[in-house]
Amino acid sequence: MKILITGGAGFIGSHVVRLFVNTYPNYEIVNLDKLTYAGNLNNLKDIENKANYRFVKGDIVDAAFINALFETEQFNAVIHLAAESHVDRSITNPLEFVMTNVIGTVNLLNAARVLHKANPDLFKRFYHVSTDEVYGALGDEGMFLETTAYDPHSPYSASKASSDHFVRAYYDTYKLPCVISNCSNNYGPNHFPEKLIPLCIHNIQNNRPLPIYGKGENVRDWLYVIDHARAIDTIFHKAQLGTTYNIGGHNEWKNIDVIRLLCQLMDKKLNRPEGTNEKLITFVTDRAGHDLRYAIDATKLKEELGWMPSVNFEEGLNLTVDWYLNNKAWLHNVTSGEYQHYYEQQYSSR
Ligand code: NAD
Ligand code: DAU
Repeated sequence: MKILITGGAGFIGSHVVRLFVNTYPNYEIVNLDKLTYAGNLNNLKDIENKANYRFVKGDIVDAAFINALFETEQFNAVIHLAAESHVDRSITNPLEFVMTNVIGTVNLLNAARVLHKANPDLFKRFYHVSTDEVYGALGDEGMFLETTAYDPHSPYSASKASSDHFVRAYYDTYKLPCVISNCSNNYGPNHFPEKLIPLCIHNIQNNRPLPIYGKGENVRDWLYVIDHARAIDTIFHKAQLGTTYNIGGHNEWKNIDVIRLLCQLMDKKLNRPEGTNEKLITFVTDRAGHDLRYAIDATKLKEELGWMPSVNFEEGLNLTVDWYLNNKAWLHNVTSGEYQHYYEQQYSSR
């Protein structure tokens, strides 16, 4: 099986590529990535020379390039993760999100459709990796189900919702064999320090303020990234075509509580007196259209395909902080040089 994984140099994609390359030596894994500020080949150093792995640099928005790649490579399946992924950036530059997340996805669907039409036995599966943000925001009660109506609020979630609709349309209209999953907030190694957890780990290390939007009362459902990669493996191999699965950690936290826990953990790890890091917490202007609460009901995935999260939050946060403390060069690299302004932009946007 020759599988195209898009966005494999990014945060989640790098864990998916590693899992597939190491678990399935008989598969040929082709990682296609544009290497935007969020893509980093250092995430894949340990597998870059494996016989069943190849990297291709390219842009999914470039239809001619994508069509030629599919024609040459004759992929059997696609796992599509490439995206602009940061909500704050979508607020300042929505068009970039439309281009990559919507147009880029439709380009891949078109190229897959050509392969599938020519030989339905060759092209088996288009797996689209999406987000729980398409469902909008919850109040204090309730959870997102696979049947929850879409109600995206940010330009990011609107672009992801649009791409999900296109995937379903290609399944219904052209019988392209598609599967979608919608996952909650991931955390773990290789996460660019613009997102809440890695940003705060980096800022604590450097004694910089920890910017908490609004009152910090927004709730997210956190999942360790390697558990997400395991879920993608399960869904890719076992899901019936045309279906959707929610993926979540059953692990809801208010932002302020996440950051307090992180501060306490890092007081210990950095040998700072108890309470030192919490003094860095700074309440800043809220995100526009900030969704109050996300919570995923992942019962369908558990009952039908047997997947459950394996890493609890305290354990996962501990592993994550250790990874950042042990990989200072990685963090330095993505916050300096050509990357510096991406980190500073986020950091100074409030
Ligand atoms: P990320 O920003 O870390 O990585 C995205 C990758 O896509 C990068 O390697 C980047 O270089 C690549 N890319 C961007 N534009 C491209 C283009 N035009 N052509 C080719 N490659 C391009 O994102 P992530 O957090 O790893 O998210 C991966 C996927 O999972 C996204 O589709 C995202 O919507 C989805 N998702 C993320 C989360 C989360 O918590 N991070 C949760 C649920 C779903
Ligand atoms: O739910 C899945 C989504 O989770 C993914 O689809 C997105 O790609 C991913 O980025 C993430 O989106 P969020 O907006 O939830 O993640 P972020 O880390 O940006 O923010 C988490 C929460 O913390 C959110 O309520 C906003 C808040 N926040 C974020 C930042 C960056 C702060 O309070 N301060 C910050 O500096």
